[in-house]
Amino acid sequence: MEFFIKDSVKFIGQVVKLKGWVFNKRSSGSIVFLQIRDGSGFIQAVLAKDEVSLEAFALGQKISDESTVIVEGPLKEEPRSPFGFEIQAKDLKLISLSQTDFPIAAKEHGIDFLLSQRHLWLRSPRQWAILRIRDEVMTSVNRFLHQEGYTRLDSPILTPSACEGTTTLFPVPYLPAWNETDGTPSWKDPAVDGKPYAFLSQSGQLYLEAAISSLGKVYDFGPTFRAEKSKTKRHLTEFWMMDAEAAFMEYGELLDFEEKMVLAVVKDVLNNCARELKILERDTQPLLKLQSPFLRLTYQETLQKLRELGSDIEDGEDLGNDDETILMTHFQQPLFVMKFPSAFKAFYFKRDSQDPELTLSADLLAPEGYGEIIGGGQREDDYETLLGRMKEANLEVKDYEWYLDLRRYGSVPHSGFGVGLERLVAWICHLEHIREAIPFPRTIYRFTP
Ligand code: 4AD
Ligand code: MG
Repeated sequence: MEFFIKDSVKFIGQVVKLKGWVFNKRSSGSIVFLQIRDGSGFIQAVLAKDEVSLEAFALGQKISDESTVIVEGPLKEEPRSPFGFEIQAKDLKLISLSQTDFPIAAKEHGIDFLLSQRHLWLRSPRQWAILRIRDEVMTSVNRFLHQEGYTRLDSPILTPSACEGTTTLFPVPYLPAWNETDGTPSWKDPAVDGKPYAFLSQSGQLYLEAAISSLGKVYDFGPTFRAEKSKTKRHLTEFWMMDAEAAFMEYGELLDFEEKMVLAVVKDVLNNCARELKILERDTQPLLKLQSPFLRLTYQETLQKLRELGSDIEDGEDLGNDDETILMTHFQQPLFVMKFPSAFKAFYFKRDSQDPELTLSADLLAPEGYGEIIGGGQREDDYETLLGRMKEANLEVKDYEWYLDLRRYGSVPHSGFGVGLERLVAWICHLEHIREAIPFPRTIYRFTP
């Protein structure tokens, strides 16, 4: 059976063959300690001079960090080793000797340097742990939604119009002009060329609303884009969103469902990522203490609470980043902020029958100072009302005719929500900044490497 470090417990006493990378080395005369990672975990291999060939020992002495190797030998439990297990090497083979100038040393580096070396920085145990948890969160969301009867239906990235307001749209020339004879493309400004722009998707929601009349309960999970002016620790220009949408689901049921999903995901991470959380030194108490029901305040009640906590937020103002931080430093549990005024919410929200100035919207804010991780609500399902909202929002109605069709043919009460994957991961991992929650972050400042 092929050996991976994560399965060490099953291999105690057996000879294993480990393929991986040396990430640290220490030697004292007749013994060399190699710290090795294989993608599934970290382990120490001990190379004793009188246990291996001369060549293997010489290799161990000269080998540089980040070299690729194969180590063979018996595996044993070793409480003194930093990883709990150790391989007593009988052989060491070199696959590739790394240059000795690996840019990321053990010393502290500035964040800008690390971001410019992101392709190498990913190898550090901390980044490994975050990426593993990100994977667990995605897997858990997929599992949960399938158990709940949802079908995955990924929505397009290239779209003709905005879902979330035009200020953060990314335009892309949709197609080039091709040279008639040799086919070389030329990318002219579409405005000049008379060709259309496409826009990178801000959210797949509108497409999911179409799909519910076919499949009932659907979700998508993919990259979304916002040309964000915000330079905060919560904003990326490219991030991953899971949008879910369900026919016949109404407002109250929606909030219960979001809550159930968040609890399921956190539980999966706690159960399946103990090693990773330990590497991150994540205090798991706040996660273990999460409980149903989450806190629920209307927008109005939230304003009141914020003022008690020292914010100077005015009536009718949207919650800013600082307001979310103040609130969620105060509360120990996730908080639904419900029924925002229509003035700063998208056209598609259904209005509250008690007060038509309010929308059946809700943001879920995460505790420990994190803020919004989910945005969602019930959708306007009446044709005339929706048309009116679009006109109020100055949208080009002709761009949304297909969306209006959904209200013409078999309209249905329905609700949905969108989870920002990196926001969720940043909170669960307790990261200082969202940029560590995505493999290759794109922010207002950078889109390299
Ligand atoms: O609140 P938002 O804008 O909601 C929508 O896009 C809806 N159409 C979703 C739906 O109902 N299907 O975005 C949803 C979530 C936010 O709660 C936040 O977690 C995340 O996406 N998000 C961002 N994450 C990182 N960087 C950004 N610039 C983000 N903008 C939104
Ligand atoms: Mg939002």
